Amino acid sequence: MHAGAAGRTIVEAHDVTRVYGAGEAEVRALDGVSVSFPEGRFTAIMGPSGSGKSTLMHILAGLDRPTSGSVVLDGVAISQLGDRALTELRRDRVGFIFQSFNLLPVLTARENIVLPLSIAGREPDAEWIERLIDTVGMRDRLTHRPAELSGGQQQRVSVARALASRPAVVFADEPTGNLDSKSGHDVLTLLRRSVDEFGQTIVMVTHDAAAAAIADRVLVLRDGRVVHDGDAPDTEGVYELMKSLGG
Ligand SMILES: Nc1ncnc2c1ncn2[C@@H]1O[C@H](COP(=O)(O)OP(=O)(O)OP(=O)(O)O)[C@@H](O)[C@H]1O
Ligand SMILES: [Mg+2]
Repeated sequence: MHAGAAGRTIVEAHDVTRVYGAGEAEVRALDGVSVSFPEGRFTAIMGPSGSGKSTLMHILAGLDRPTSGSVVLDGVAISQLGDRALTELRRDRVGFIFQSFNLLPVLTARENIVLPLSIAGREPDAEWIERLIDTVGMRDRLTHRPAELSGGQQQRVSVARALASRPAVVFADEPTGNLDSKSGHDVLTLLRRSVDEFGQTIVMVTHDAAAAAIADRVLVLRDGRVVHDGDAPDTEGVYELMKSLGG
């Protein structure tokens, strides 16, 4: 394990509930979730459609607020922060990778990678950025715009963007969902390397057993509750696990 991974908790949720709507239309998307994510670990969150995976990720990342319960991110009780402080904390300490890449179409690959730092008014750590560019293998595509890149290349740019600020945690929602299996595997390998080589903490929502198998830990949600939490098995083991939990 990476030298920086001392087992410190980076994100924790305490008895988090999230209720959408009211009355007849009420949906309990999360129903008393308590979970913690130690530094330098790669966690996959799985579960059927509608089980609350994205809702949990959004609440852990400070993109949404719990109806009750609390979240501590990198030592900060984020449920108590105002909108502005929360935005700054996300910008400075959280990296995001989305299924649909979310790159800015008018910017080049390099500009997209450093964009979060530019917005924060921070000077990029040049050596780190160059290392990331090589790690994700985008050195010869840096002046290309997203429309001139394949899906796999765009997602590799968003991996570098997510890591650029050396965030406390990276949240990824279905990062391989729009990729063919080869490009998906490349992106997963990159995420794995960032954990092994840089001690990055990653929380990844996925439906893909092969993606979950590359993680250290698999958390399964069902009806807004954690129904399994254990070390990640191999791909076959993830299929077996999902089957034993009723899909
Ligand atoms: N903004 C919203 N308003 C009302 N209900 C919502 C909202 N967002 C999510 N839900 C409901 O909350 C539940 C959990 O949704 P969530 O998006 O977290 O599921 P998920 O596990 O990410 O599913 P998927 O695998 O399909 O992405 C679902 O029943 C969903 O319909
Ligand atoms: Mg989802």
